[in-house]
Amino acid sequence: MSAPVPSPTPAPTAPGGWPLIGHAHRLARDPLPFFTSLRAYGSVVRIGIGPTPAYVVTDPALTRRVLVTDAARFTKGGKIIDALRVFFGDGLATVADGDTHLRNRRLMQPMFNKAHIAGRGDAMIDQVRSMVAAWPEGHSRDVYADMNDITLAAFLVALFGTDLPEHIEGEFTALMPAIMAGTIRQTILPGWITRLPLPANRAHADRVARLRALIDSAIDHASNPGSQETQTTQCPHAAARTQEPTGLFRTLVSAGDQLSRQQLQDEAITLLTGAIETTGTTLAWTLYEITRHPHIEQRLREELREVCGDSPLRYADVDRLPYARQVLQEAIRKYGPAWMVTRTAERDLDLGGHHIPEGADVVWSPYLHQHDPAYFPNPDTFDPDRWEAGRAAAARGSFLAFGDGRRKCIGENFAWAELQIILATVLQIWPAFELTSRPPRPQAVVTVKPDTMAMAYHRKT
Ligand code: HEM
Repeated sequence: MSAPVPSPTPAPTAPGGWPLIGHAHRLARDPLPFFTSLRAYGSVVRIGIGPTPAYVVTDPALTRRVLVTDAARFTKGGKIIDALRVFFGDGLATVADGDTHLRNRRLMQPMFNKAHIAGRGDAMIDQVRSMVAAWPEGHSRDVYADMNDITLAAFLVALFGTDLPEHIEGEFTALMPAIMAGTIRQTILPGWITRLPLPANRAHADRVARLRALIDSAIDHASNPGSQETQTTQCPHAAARTQEPTGLFRTLVSAGDQLSRQQLQDEAITLLTGAIETTGTTLAWTLYEITRHPHIEQRLREELREVCGDSPLRYADVDRLPYARQVLQEAIRKYGPAWMVTRTAERDLDLGGHHIPEGADVVWSPYLHQHDPAYFPNPDTFDPDRWEAGRAAAARGSFLAFGDGRRKCIGENFAWAELQIILATVLQIWPAFELTSRPPRPQAVVTVKPDTMAMAYHRKT
């Protein structure tokens, strides 16, 4: 006779919650220590986001159940996704699970396969090189802003081609920081405040409208590269450049009438916001860790010299830089970059022996799992060697930086290519760089970003 299955018990509640606001004060003040502290209370821990309960999964094996094995019961959703949908529309990252998601994912997947990305690799390298080489020597620069600008420019070249009119890129660069800040504000505040005709809400809506107009021009460009309109009114050099390959977004535009103009806009805006800050913050933290560990910098430079000699990096070199990949992977592990992702329980469920009520938000956090000492000994230590072949197997299971299952990051291959290109280019062009600000503190906003980080770059060591 088989033993009776025990009925699920209520999940333990994290201490320190306050009436009405729950743990919102902890999430606002020190979310990363708060999240990592939850592991001590159990594998699923109940917290309050305002008056609403949410269930944080602290065991990576259970997170895999949520994302993969039982994905049909834990659907994409939650308060944050609802707020983001106002801005992203029904783009891939916010659209509900189901046929539309499946169809759009299938249409978009080819854009991000390795062969397609390789086709854009050298154009990305040229773009990154010209920007990194333009930094004046010895001046203190905001690393986070630089890395976001470069990842944006590389993304635009890859997605929309090399001959995108310059004003589009300039306006994207100028708009994105305020848009990201406004989006965070919209997700944190109650919905009714974000709908009031306040100056901040109007300014955000105007910027989003401008971004959509820019995206629209970029889509026009991808649909019809070197068109008469583009050549004569927007970019005097376009005629000479029309032979150059167009961007990855053309794959989606060529999917015929399967996607409406509004859907193309939603997808472009989703990719843009998903791609920039994630890779930008990772690079900023990587450079920071390099300034703290001269032996890591030395190994990186040696590897680069062995592979490229004195020649500038070419895309074919990227896969031959395994140590650089380990360093980047360790930066992703240590700093997130995603720290809070949500799902919704489709019905009353049992997760790890705990009861999750229907409709509840279920929270998982790559940051939390990647700081689990059971899988990553001394998790606060920056140790790229933990990713060495042979040593990495145990760690891989709880490395969930790109998610898993049907909602796994579609841009992972692209992210790796971009990260490798930008890191190698900074190292090749600048033989030395130093931190000129105080040491940064991690700040969990959209990603885990540095609160401050400045560096100066030098031609001589
Ligand atoms: C270091 C870089 C990146 C990290 C750590 C990252 C992380 C993630 C994570 C954790 C998810 C899953 C969210 C969930 O389960 O709900 C995700 C989804 C997604 N990411 Fe990324 N991402 C990165 C770069 C990129 C890039 C470069 C792009 C675009 C080129 C991108 C586009 C997307 C999209 C569209 C989704 C939604 C996929 C879907 O729901 O089907 N990401 N990303």
